[in-house]
Amino acid sequence: MEVGNGSDLEVHVFQSSSELLAKLHEKWGSVKKQPYPAMYSSIFGGIILDPALMVIPIDDHMVHRGHGVFDTAILLNGHLYELDAHLDRFLQSASKAKISSPFPRSTLRSILLQLAAASKHKKGTLRYWLSSGPGNFLLTSAECPTSAFYAVVIDEDFSQCKEGVKVITSTIPMKSPLFATMKNVNYLPNVLSKMEAEEKGAFASIWVDEEGYIAEGPNVNVAFITREKELVVPFFDKILSGCTVKRLIELAPKLVARGRLNGVKFGNLRVEEAKDVAEMMFVGSTLPLLPIIMWDEQPIGDGRVGELTMELSDLLWDDMVAGPETHRTPVPYKD
Ligand SMILES: Cc1ncc(COP(=O)(O)O)c(C=O)c1O
Repeated sequence: MEVGNGSDLEVHVFQSSSELLAKLHEKWGSVKKQPYPAMYSSIFGGIILDPALMVIPIDDHMVHRGHGVFDTAILLNGHLYELDAHLDRFLQSASKAKISSPFPRSTLRSILLQLAAASKHKKGTLRYWLSSGPGNFLLTSAECPTSAFYAVVIDEDFSQCKEGVKVITSTIPMKSPLFATMKNVNYLPNVLSKMEAEEKGAFASIWVDEEGYIAEGPNVNVAFITREKELVVPFFDKILSGCTVKRLIELAPKLVARGRLNGVKFGNLRVEEAKDVAEMMFVGSTLPLLPIIMWDEQPIGDGRVGELTMELSDLLWDDMVAGPETHRTPVPYKD
């Protein structure tokens, strides 16, 4: 036990791994609901069910140098949504970050499915990382034995977002295109940008690039419905290519066919144009679609959740919950 605050502080030294493990079990034993039902580590070489042992090495370059990339997939109704799109982006991020995976894509995919099955959960989030690996505290991992793959299932609930939120323009500088287009673990600008929004009573902030065009949110894409009833999504050259917004672009033509939308396109909007749209929304895997009704204290459209936004939200939600298996991979649960 650590006591005192200065000269009388005595740091406890764990004398054995069993003593430490008992301490960790005591901590996890007091948690009402275990939030992480299963983890995979290529360093351990398997799936871990004991939360006390869901750890990564301190000399892992992802920990002390930020040399790692990550991605997410949503687990809903026993299926992983858009797993292949997320895996493709994950490997593109790894290649940009010069991290070679310890396994081929098919093995990574199989591990993720077996991990989801081992979690026994039908709903939650699956997060996974490729790291340049553990081995030393140098800048590059050239002398480290191997890169590493980690993944965890998080017990989380999802429901369709029906309430609109407020946003602000971020004052935190956005990442340069090289870093914004790869999903690497350096999310400090994203964290500070979200904190800034929360401090100002908003849900999240919006990045505007140096030329005055709308970019994205801290962990979400943005999309607009113009007064001409066109769905417009910013180009991906300076931002993350969101798997959810890409799927939305595939689904939205259904609303064009029904005569509800007049078109669907990529396009860069300036702040003045963007603030004058009819409807606006955030799009990202964990939402999947969230209406935006106020921006820098100025209403978007009539300041209420837009009808077309909700129709797009329904399309996406239905696809996530019960869409075709080309976009929903069934988890191979044992029983
Ligand atoms: C910076 C950033 N932009 C956009 C997104 C949305 O991407 P996706 O729809 O793949 O979750 C994310 C989340 O991964 C993100 O971190």
